[in-house]
Amino acid sequence: MSTNVSKHVFQIFIPILHGLALAVKECSFDSDNFKFPLTALAELCEIKFGKTHPVCNLATSLPLWCPKPLSPGCGREIQRLSYLGAFFSLSVFAEDDTKVGDKYFSGPAITMENTRVVSQSLQHYLELARGDLFKVLHNILLNGETRELALNYMAALVNYNVKKAQMQTDDKLVSTDGLMLNFLWVLQQLSMKIKLETVDPYYIFHPRCRLVVSLEETRLKATMEELKSWMNEMHEDPSKFSEPKFPTECFFLTLHTHHLSILPCCRRYIRRLRAIRELNRTVEELKNSEGQWKDSPLASRHREMLKRCKTQLKKLVRAKACADVGLLDENLLRRCLQFYSTVIKLILRMVDPAYPNITLPLNPEIPRSFAALPEFYVEDVAEFLLFVVQYSPQVLYEPCVQDVVTFLVVFICSQHYIRNPYLIAKLVEVLFVTNPAVQPRTQRFSEMMENHPLSIKHLVPALMKFYTGML
Ligand SMILES: *[C@@H]1O[C@H](CO)[C@@H](O)[C@H](O)[C@H]1NC(C)=O
Ligand SMILES: *[C@@H]1O[C@H](CO)[C@@H](O)[C@H](O)[C@H]1NC(C)=O
Repeated sequence: MSTNVSKHVFQIFIPILHGLALAVKECSFDSDNFKFPLTALAELCEIKFGKTHPVCNLATSLPLWCPKPLSPGCGREIQRLSYLGAFFSLSVFAEDDTKVGDKYFSGPAITMENTRVVSQSLQHYLELARGDLFKVLHNILLNGETRELALNYMAALVNYNVKKAQMQTDDKLVSTDGLMLNFLWVLQQLSMKIKLETVDPYYIFHPRCRLVVSLEETRLKATMEELKSWMNEMHEDPSKFSEPKFPTECFFLTLHTHHLSILPCCRRYIRRLRAIRELNRTVEELKNSEGQWKDSPLASRHREMLKRCKTQLKKLVRAKACADVGLLDENLLRRCLQFYSTVIKLILRMVDPAYPNITLPLNPEIPRSFAALPEFYVEDVAEFLLFVVQYSPQVLYEPCVQDVVTFLVVFICSQHYIRNPYLIAKLVEVLFVTNPAVQPRTQRFSEMMENHPLSIKHLVPALMKFYTGML
């Protein structure tokens, strides 16, 4: 009887939950008032009554816990409509919320010193907010009755946002970078303690895999036909698959979320830098040639254009300052690198079960589980490294870099394991850009590559093969 009464009693929290969601929608990182609704939700989710977390039960029973998509813009929909969407939307990026840039990065007096102070305090806000978001999701996962609903919501965030990986995405159809990075941070925390031995590397081929991995997604070595026939063969005998466990699901959710958060964010950062350079060049040219046009009939038109370019440039520079805070956050980038090093371990184990005692050449018979992996599992590591080398090279001073080095050496020396020659070229590019002649701050990384036990015999011939293959 007491259980019935208590369930009923906890209904009084429903208007409070709605109130918190409305409150957080009004919040921004331009002040610390975001703390109240977030911390309140986190604390409510922690309340335990016997074995259950009643507020977790309530939150996941709301009709808008995880709404079904209504339009092609399902990524943006889940952000706008789902109960947790508003909480996860807090962002420093200018394209998500202009208030942060307006408050901290506009006006004439932006010095290096106050930029550093502002960055630190904004990054501290981000950590606080994400810590609370972690508490919320973690409690919903801990609570037996709501674990499935939490996992379904997390998978929906990934599945509804697959378009974020595409080069030409309409941003209005997908969730914002801010939401995706907050979600990534939470997943990284959840994955931190996972033991790799407990991760089933076959999960994405599992009939009950929660992630939608399209057959059209390019694979490392398998063609679509090979993939289809292999999957059919595997699915003939469902007894081969055991029930997916939490560490496995969490690991792959985290891996796919990296693909849809940090990498699109890095691409946007690079695109913006390019736009700033080009616009600045136009402004400089217009200014320098002012003597030629100021008395001409086109003068007013030129002046108008100069004004517009300057305004746009200011906006972009402000957006860059915000992205420096949100993306060039060393703790975040380090955690990404650490997670990628576990992905690398998983992949290296697939290609040589003797890992870490890998021998080259690898088995000429390519394991099918490896061949059928999405190409982006390897490509993302290379792309992430290329970004970090250029914009935050100090992140490469991490113990886990040893695995990254092994990974590069093994695949540069095993070019037949990868179907796409451009992917090999990307791996070689990492080797090239970390050369101290190109980037002095990665000297140690470069030395680790050169001195790697497998490099000594295999790397130079492999590079020769790569370069002659290109001729
Ligand atoms: C624009 O270019 C000028 C001259 O090269 C440089 O001094 C200035 O810092 C640049 N501004 C921006 C916003 O990149
Ligand atoms: C790798 O080699 C070391 C030393 O040679 C040995 O102790 C270890 O068991 C080997 N590991 C595997 C997985 O074969």
